[in-house]
Amino acid sequence: MGRRGLVTDSRNIGLAPSILSADFSFLGEAVRSVEQSAGWIHVDVMDGHFVPTITMGPLAVQSLVRLTSVPIECHLMIDNPWAIMPQFAQAGAARCTVHVETGRTAELAGMARALGISMGVALNPETPAAEIYPYLDSVDLVLVMTVNPGFGGQQFMPEVLPKLAEISSRVSEMGLEIDVEVDGGIGPGTVGQVVAAGANILVAGSAIFSAGTSPAAAAEKLIRVAMDAGVR
Ligand code: DX5
Ligand code: ZN
Repeated sequence: MGRRGLVTDSRNIGLAPSILSADFSFLGEAVRSVEQSAGWIHVDVMDGHFVPTITMGPLAVQSLVRLTSVPIECHLMIDNPWAIMPQFAQAGAARCTVHVETGRTAELAGMARALGISMGVALNPETPAAEIYPYLDSVDLVLVMTVNPGFGGQQFMPEVLPKLAEISSRVSEMGLEIDVEVDGGIGPGTVGQVVAAGANILVAGSAIFSAGTSPAAAAEKLIRVAMDAGVR
């Protein structure tokens, strides 16, 4: 997939701003505001079943794709990704990430290949690392949730760090060139820990869009802190 927006250190650390924390009446401006430092735009898709609330779908993605050249990654927190993933691909999403908890992961990986999009597999804080191991060689990314999915602005769960480190090591040991992404409670105070544990793509919502500074400045700061942690 495209490497646009990535900081050019050896680990390809990149930022994926989550527009979940943006003002939905100004989504276009939110995306534009972080274009310079974003490797991906992270779109949280929620269905009211897999998680308690509902957010946005393929039509919103279609509009965002027209607006920006930054690739859009869709985090599908939905019960039936196999029914909807083709619509996200059609809308122009560059990547769909599905939760291992919904099942049919191997089938979904095949579907993503056939659709010509990148594919990620996510796991919730309570889900053991071993659940995703059978799929590591057929996905492009692992998303380790560092909060329970459903809402922005939650507190980072440090108890996930050993699992993140275990997954990152497993990926390296297997010689796979897949990305390890984290999502939930990522900000200047936590980014160092996740980078040290092996994460290289950082999803951040409230730390960018509710930071009290401009989203552009918040995004730049976050990537700087992550880089410092990465080269240590
Ligand atoms: C939560 C979503 C996240 C959310 C993160 O279920 O998957 O992408 O936007 O928000 P912050 O960065 O505020 O924890
Ligand atoms: Zn997300």
